[in-house]
Amino acid sequence: MSEHATARNLLTDNPALYEARFPDPDRLAARWTEEVLRTHGAGPHVLDLGCGTGRDAAHLHATGRTVVGADLSDAMLAHARTHHPGPRYVRADLRRFRLTDLAAQPFDAIVCLDSALLYCHTNDELDGFLDSCRRALTPGGLLVAEMRNGAFFLGRTELLDAPQIRGFAWEGTVYRSVTTLTVDRAAQLLRRRRVWSTEDGSPPVEQHSAWRLLFPQELRYALAAHGFTVLDLHDGPGPRTEPPWRAGSAVLPGGSADGDRLHLVARLGDG
Ligand SMILES: C[S@@+](CC[C@H](N)C(=O)[O-])C[C@H]1O[C@@H](n2cnc3c(N)ncnc32)[C@H](O)[C@@H]1O
Repeated sequence: MSEHATARNLLTDNPALYEARFPDPDRLAARWTEEVLRTHGAGPHVLDLGCGTGRDAAHLHATGRTVVGADLSDAMLAHARTHHPGPRYVRADLRRFRLTDLAAQPFDAIVCLDSALLYCHTNDELDGFLDSCRRALTPGGLLVAEMRNGAFFLGRTELLDAPQIRGFAWEGTVYRSVTTLTVDRAAQLLRRRRVWSTEDGSPPVEQHSAWRLLFPQELRYALAAHGFTVLDLHDGPGPRTEPPWRAGSAVLPGGSADGDRLHLVARLGDG
């Protein structure tokens, strides 16, 4: 870390800034999720793991579902309770959680959006996540996830070759971010270093994150080991693909798992 930079997670500490930086005014992610749940006949009781600002959980709640949103960030949970009311918001670690800490009854579906699942960095953490999901779901319950695709990075360096520089204005301040992605091959992690700066003279803020580079075949293997049947595993269209999924278009498998986003629907039990 540079000696002039402060280490913290600017976006997770500032949920409103997170929504400004990653706007989803049409609630595409939540609408895609609702369509997946509807297509696969999921019941109404839903857990959104790594719910972030709560915007997806609240949309699912507004469709008539009973939703619990869980996250590790107190700032995100506080924002969600104020700005996206409806669901119950609870602090929990997706890498190992207990149903009894979240709800009185098992869930009909668990959703985990925008790469939240990839905070399971190690195999033990992935096992902890899947074991916790299995215990928290009704028999036949659904696990729906949307995330980066590790396989995309096999033989492709386009996201790694040069830092990405972005700028955006929020509440009168211009924010500039310089993002560098590197692959830690042995750990199977995509590491991100992002340095934020503003023009107001504040010291730069340096943020480090990492996501598991999870490959489709190993995900299938882990899911089967925990008693799940994969119904769909594909690279889109989805809410964060280009072109994106649109309301009215099918959410059935696109057939390949080669692009940079992976979409998973798995059922607990035999499918
Ligand atoms: C990229 S955001 C996605 C938020 C939301 N799902 C969305 O799609 O807008 C990832 C979220 O996961 C949360 N998170 C990170 N590690 C976690 C963990 N171990 N358990 C629960 N939540 C976690 C972060 O606090 C953050 O809110």
